[in-house]
Amino acid sequence: MRGRRPASSRDRAGPRCFLSTCGKTPSHFPLRMTNRLLLGTKNQGKLVEFRELLRGVRGVEFLTIAERPFADVEETGETFLENALLKARAICGETGLAVLAEDAGLDVAALGGAPGVRSARFSGEPVDYARNNALLLERLRGVADRQARFVAVTALVLPSGDFFVTSGALHGRIAQKAAGQGGFGYDPVFIPEGMVRTLAEIPLAEKNEISHRRRSIARMTTLLATLEREGALSS
Ligand code: IMP
Repeated sequence: MRGRRPASSRDRAGPRCFLSTCGKTPSHFPLRMTNRLLLGTKNQGKLVEFRELLRGVRGVEFLTIAERPFADVEETGETFLENALLKARAICGETGLAVLAEDAGLDVAALGGAPGVRSARFSGEPVDYARNNALLLERLRGVADRQARFVAVTALVLPSGDFFVTSGALHGRIAQKAAGQGGFGYDPVFIPEGMVRTLAEIPLAEKNEISHRRRSIARMTTLLATLEREGALSS
């Protein structure tokens, strides 16, 4: 794969050696290269949320597709985990950069977990959020059990081949009808547990406090802080 460095044993030993034998933090090295991380998504709604959720991470320059274009990755996995990893690996292979990618979706109990990994294309191609929501409401017409959850799996793949995975969930129920203009995807039909409004009716900052994405990224940011200190994201 173009631009990808092989995951040699020397690469793998780098960060560990850095910490254990030098006993210094990377800031002792004035020529340390920039920690750059490419956000591996073309979804503008996700990008807006990623940027907000990653604001507290220091010492890492986050790049998007605007700065470093990459090709579409076909999501052929059967699970959120497989898809998150295959996206991050493919984009890392293409760009040679550390990549953070996510696969997320809606899991509806009465539909046996659907739309699940098919969330984006539930009602077919091209992706159409309004049509997806209409189909979901149609499938649940007259169904009493409206329990659902959003799931997000975040994968970080380093040019060395090392990878890290976190996940998060947001439980709630499917509304009787769509409401609200905010967010994206299934937000207009999803009411979080303990709330009366849909995710599309509340401010983005409020969604970001409770979302599946927030929970998954919060776990990832702890990891990112450590990797940043080790210089493992350098490119
Ligand atoms: P992905 O880009 O393959 O992860 O597709 C995820 C799909 O799941 C999106 O197209 C949305 O339909 C849905 N989805 C994921 N996260 C959210 C969210 O936070 N709100 C609403 N819909 C979401």
